[in-house]
Amino acid sequence: MDDFKIQACQARVRSNKEDAKNIFRLELEGCKMGIAKPGQFVCLAPLDHSSAMARPFSIFFYDMFAGFLVIYYKAVGKNTELMKSLQAGQSIKLWGPLGNGISSDGIPRLPGDLHKDIPVPEGVAAWLICGGMGFASLNLAIRELNQFFPRSVLFYGGKTKSEMVSLDKDPYRVNQEIIVATEDGTAGYTGLVTDLFVQKILENPGKKILVITCGPKPMMAKVAEICEGQEFDCYVILETIMACGIGVCLGCSIKTTAGMKRICHDGPVFDAKEVIWDEI
Ligand SMILES: Cc1cc2nc3c(=O)[nH]c(=O)nc-3n(C[C@H](O)[C@H](O)[C@H](O)COP(=O)(O)OP(=O)(O)OC[C@H]3O[C@@H](n4cnc5c(N)ncnc54)[C@H](O)[C@@H]3O)c2cc1C
Ligand code: FES
Repeated sequence: MDDFKIQACQARVRSNKEDAKNIFRLELEGCKMGIAKPGQFVCLAPLDHSSAMARPFSIFFYDMFAGFLVIYYKAVGKNTELMKSLQAGQSIKLWGPLGNGISSDGIPRLPGDLHKDIPVPEGVAAWLICGGMGFASLNLAIRELNQFFPRSVLFYGGKTKSEMVSLDKDPYRVNQEIIVATEDGTAGYTGLVTDLFVQKILENPGKKILVITCGPKPMMAKVAEICEGQEFDCYVILETIMACGIGVCLGCSIKTTAGMKRICHDGPVFDAKEVIWDEI
């Protein structure tokens, strides 16, 4: 098997459970897809047969040797509502891994790009900032970046505790620091995760930080703005509605400062400096 080729597979559902309010954890087996990098995603064939559109979901956890994949989904529309009724043993078609993804040195690169990781200057920390469902993209990143950024931190923001998953209890997490923020104060810091980010910057003057963020657009735009002010490198994981998911239909194209880009192929991880937020 080509380790970087997109593979289609007929995955079997191992379990499908609500893990937080309206957020479901889907465990799948039989997915031999080769290497998957943080930030990459898979497309699930629609269960709603009136739609031909692929449904993209971030890879939360993947064991390539066992072909075991975990995704999280929020029930927001027709297809994700149908996904709730998937039972253990049922099959679902998916293909992946898709998109560029992040290498161990924190830089997004296309799969198969034979590069040497750029040495990370001593003392640089990786701070991963997610809001809402953005945690699903960053779990793999916090595992992978561990090698180059031994003290990386995951900031996880949400409206309220009941709408957030317990990442600290996940069997597939590595022992990295997770700091939670809720808007209503039901867990962790009270307020927006971006305010918590600013507070932590102020508590760590002069610290060099590489930032990766995923979540609602206003949150990512704010993180990018803060990073620009601090001269931190910042990568954002963008989402949009997709059709093919493999770079063919141009349906996910966006205007960037570096020209037109397809989120499914050139992204979903972009240098924040490339992103024109009004165009997303
Ligand atoms: C790269 C990528 C990774 C993703 N990872 C995850 C994930 O890990 N977990 C998760 O729950 N969701 C994720 N999504 C979003 C997910 O693909 C959509 O929520 C899903 O396809 C909706 O399908 P549906 O048929 O239930 O909703 P639909 O009936 O198609 O749409 C319901 C509503 O959601 C809006 N919508 C649908 N898709 C998107 C989107 N991508 N961005 C913004 N609005 C959208 C529609 O405009 C509509 O208002 C990801 C999307 C991308 C592009
Ligand atoms: S969804 Fe078809 S090119 Fe991206």
